[in-house]
Amino acid sequence: MRHYLDLADWRSEEIRELLNLAQFLRLEFKSGGNKPVLRGKTLAMIFQKPSLRTKVSFETGMNQLGGAALMLGPDEIGLGKRESIGDVARSLSRFVQGIMARVFAHETVLELGRYATCPVINGLTDSQHPCQALADVLTIIDHLGRVEGRRVAFVGDGNNVAFSLAQAVAHAGGHFAIASPPGYGLPEEDIDSIALIARANGSTFETFHDPVQAVREADVVYTDTWISMGQEASAQQRIADFQPYQVNANLMKYASRRAIVMHCLPAHRGQEVTDEVLDGPYSVVFDQAENRLHAQKAILVKLMA
Ligand code: CP
Ligand code: NVA
Repeated sequence: MRHYLDLADWRSEEIRELLNLAQFLRLEFKSGGNKPVLRGKTLAMIFQKPSLRTKVSFETGMNQLGGAALMLGPDEIGLGKRESIGDVARSLSRFVQGIMARVFAHETVLELGRYATCPVINGLTDSQHPCQALADVLTIIDHLGRVEGRRVAFVGDGNNVAFSLAQAVAHAGGHFAIASPPGYGLPEEDIDSIALIARANGSTFETFHDPVQAVREADVVYTDTWISMGQEASAQQRIADFQPYQVNANLMKYASRRAIVMHCLPAHRGQEVTDEVLDGPYSVVFDQAENRLHAQKAILVKLMA
């Protein structure tokens, strides 16, 4: 049973195939509609956390492919509370042909994957966001032609989005640099995972504390919230610690002249990014949002068709 839980489980060649499939499905959709290759199939969507893009893109994606999606919010199934994660996975597998889950602990999607007899897709955990990363790489290709050899700078928290993005960029042969405040960098095990993929693809991976060093000559400047879902209790401390890491017009001066700005959204305007940058000519954030749909349709077709 194949799952989409961690980009380390996928070969670089397979990621390239997913990206090609996403481009094909996007073209097919925009030239009259997709073939209903998922007709009669249902995706269960488990959410322990809020979502706009993930929920809407998975649901519309399933509809466009002839299938259906079922929303299971935090209060509905009580994952691991009303019932064990394993029993939820085994029961759901008797009704649906795929499970997408947005949860807190990464271990929860691993456990769903261990028990499910249908594919499980990671729709974000505390440590990874691989659907976002696939859409992001697709967006970089759309705007810069290729990821190979491009310099991607992530400014901010060494979080779920940063980790999966670094893995995806490494798979695609790009160079990744991250600047985070001391104490907020990527965990050691994430760095090992990224380094392993990078070595196989001639990619480089660097970590900094100084945002200017990461952003210098970058082709892509990426940021995300300073306070991820579940970290609300430490919000005040984080806002103070991350002040020097705002992506603003001054920081953008150090990037390549044609650099694009990326953000997975939701954005906290005036915190990690200014309005001027987010709404500026180099911002591609809504293309990223749209590409969630196309990238995830490729994942759905690959795993469920
Ligand atoms: N980027 C992203 O995953 O958005 P949502 O949290 O709205 O799904
Ligand atoms: N890092 C953010 C991403 C939201 C899509 C979070 O986990 O809340």
